[in-house]
Amino acid sequence: MLTIRLKDDNWALHQIAERQDTPGSLIKGSMPKAGYLAMLAQQYLVNNAFDQALQTILPDHPAIAALILNEQLLTQYLDEDLAYFGVDPSACEPTPGTQRFIDHIDAHKDQPLHLLGLHYVRLGACNGNAFVARVVRKAYTLDDPQHGTRYLDPFGPTQRKKWIAFKAGLDAMPLTQSQQDEVFAGTRAAYVLAINLDLPVYQSDEQLLAKHGQSLDQKAFAQGHSVHVQPMLEK
Ligand code: HEM
Repeated sequence: MLTIRLKDDNWALHQIAERQDTPGSLIKGSMPKAGYLAMLAQQYLVNNAFDQALQTILPDHPAIAALILNEQLLTQYLDEDLAYFGVDPSACEPTPGTQRFIDHIDAHKDQPLHLLGLHYVRLGACNGNAFVARVVRKAYTLDDPQHGTRYLDPFGPTQRKKWIAFKAGLDAMPLTQSQQDEVFAGTRAAYVLAINLDLPVYQSDEQLLAKHGQSLDQKAFAQGHSVHVQPMLEK
């Protein structure tokens, strides 16, 4: 099944992604609030470019459009969060990592299956981000989940159900092997670009895997992802 491949063949990149400065310090609760707001602003720039690319191609690709629901377009939640914090995203400059992500979206804007792969990763990341949101709410005393953590946790208690439905829809698409490879390439690119958001100089998947290879631990990852997530999963 395609979604099993997308998960199992990307686990190492996922583990590397969790360790990067921004996701790592958010899940530990050590990120200062200004850093959280900067992350939201950069994500706004990436997701806005991505949602525009999707909205341009989806009318011509009804099978993909049926899978990518409006509620999965994440710019709307970033808009809400940034408005809540009084941050104007149009005043934000993209970091080198953000610009690389935007350039990648632009270079693949005519490849719907690649875009679907990119989308899989940002939507799947909401699974982990729901845990991150809990830590963030505590760290910055955000008492109402509707205010300030909409991007991290847009679906609340329906997260799991919606993710399972999305994966079932993707697995039900009659894709050839080479079309599945296109989706897979999109997921791989999304992980690498997300990891690179925190890196001043771009590193390819080969470089990242060579650097982290020795320290990656598939068993620990399968059991509970980040050590910071494990206790929350047990609750
Ligand atoms: C502190 C950071 C992170 C934590 C703690 C975390 C944790 C998790 C957890 C617990 C799941 C659910 C696993 C399951 O259903 O079996 C998940 C799924 C997922 N996460 Fe993360 N995650 C983090 C960062 C990221 C980042 C940065 C990305 C992408 C750039 C990402 C992409 C995904 C995807 C695509 C899934 C869906 C399942 C899959 O294909 O593996 N995560 N994550």
